Amino acid sequence: MEKKLAIVGLGYVGLPLALTYALEGFQVAGVDIDSRRIASIDACALGMREDFDGVPVNAVLKQCLSNGSLKVTSRFEDLPRDVTTFIITVGIPIDEHWSLDLSMLTGACEELGRVLKKEDLVICRSTVPVGTTRGLVKSTLERTSGLVAGVDFDLAYSSERIAEGHAYDEFRTMPLVVGGITARSLDRATEVLGAVNREPVFKASSIELVETAKMFENAQRDVNIAIANQLARFANRFDIPTWELLQACNTHPRVKILMPGIGVGGHCIPFASPYLFGSLSGKDEWNELLPTFVSAREANNAQPEYIAGRISKRMGGLDGKHILFIGIAMKDYSDDVSVSPAVNLANVILKAGADVAVLDEVADTPTFLRRESDLEHAVCWADGVVLPILQSGVDYEHVRQLVMDAHGRIVLYDFRGVYEQDQATLEQPWYVRL
Ligand SMILES: NC(=O)c1ccc[n+]([C@@H]2O[C@H](COP(=O)([O-])OP(=O)(O)OC[C@H]3O[C@@H](n4cnc5c(N)ncnc54)[C@H](O)[C@@H]3O)[C@@H](O)[C@H]2O)c1
Repeated sequence: MEKKLAIVGLGYVGLPLALTYALEGFQVAGVDIDSRRIASIDACALGMREDFDGVPVNAVLKQCLSNGSLKVTSRFEDLPRDVTTFIITVGIPIDEHWSLDLSMLTGACEELGRVLKKEDLVICRSTVPVGTTRGLVKSTLERTSGLVAGVDFDLAYSSERIAEGHAYDEFRTMPLVVGGITARSLDRATEVLGAVNREPVFKASSIELVETAKMFENAQRDVNIAIANQLARFANRFDIPTWELLQACNTHPRVKILMPGIGVGGHCIPFASPYLFGSLSGKDEWNELLPTFVSAREANNAQPEYIAGRISKRMGGLDGKHILFIGIAMKDYSDDVSVSPAVNLANVILKAGADVAVLDEVADTPTFLRRESDLEHAVCWADGVVLPILQSGVDYEHVRQLVMDAHGRIVLYDFRGVYEQDQATLEQPWYVRL
């Protein structure tokens, strides 16, 4: 295998993947049609929080750009002609009505088809509804290249399973599942994936099986988190400590309930059901085959409203109250706010008449919320301090001390179990747990 490849789409998955191959000795070309994205890559000024065995992403990027192991462009025609392997990592946006926008994937395949050559290999790693690789991806590549998949070029699908913030580790250690349009496609893709991944690759009998597995992996976690959130609601009703209850349940070796919270953030789990839905012919088929998933999704979607209700009840209404959010990202330690239940929660609280401020040094505060940067000033201003996610750089002990010094004037809503080991805090009337 030649140690050369191209990555199509340089987002949260594509860029770290490109760097991972570059660090493995590959000559990597990256293409992304967003020229602002290319400019920030060229400037080594990415906002993403990935590190490569402790080295921050921008430092690794600088090293790979300057030694020539990574070259990026916004134009497919500028990709080196001697590259024979292409990995697609573009996204598929989904709207609130669960309709999938496949135009990025179509666009990427159209452009890729124009530069595709005989004997090339294309591996799709975007999360897609079942049938997309053999349908849209294959037909678009064939139409614009004039080549035939499985005859002139190879085509494979391997789901992407990494979590943002852990990309480098997980590209090397997360087990992979792969399917190919022919046995040769499967073998070639396995070899390329195995060049960075140390785990044995699961060679599936079909591409469709791999596409389906990815959707159910995410959907299973959505249902599991819905159970965890309902466990927390039930525990609250009977004044049973949630985290201890969870711990107790999970001592059973065949039980694994995930963490409850204020909702489910990110681009994967909340969209698992829409991908499944997008694979079916409509609501009738959905209700017949997958009734559980929709109720789990609705429950998790409603979680921010439910949590806002709890805060409101505890504070005797929200109108005119000062509420500080420490952390606003979509999940713990993330810099991303694009699908964030914390933002949804803040929005509900804002609409109920409260004044909301946000302290998060890592993620950008949405413009409709007021940003705070001084911890002491922000906490002392607040009537309620909400910890919706964990965030790096926050001195949680200082937060606790400031709230304690307010002698009950400030209520601390600890939705991540930050102080769960601190018995003295748990007994305080100003302390509220999930
Ligand atoms: N982010 C994650 O942690 C994660 C984890 C597992 C799976 N996934 C899946 O991986 C895929 C990529 O996710 P992401 O988070 O990297 O998305 P992203 O939105 O961060 O990146 C996608 C990139 O593709 C580029 N793009 C769009 N159209 C293009 C085209 N025609 N040609 C070239 N580039 C184009 C965009 O400009 C963008 O930079 C998605 O299907 C997602 O569901 C993501």
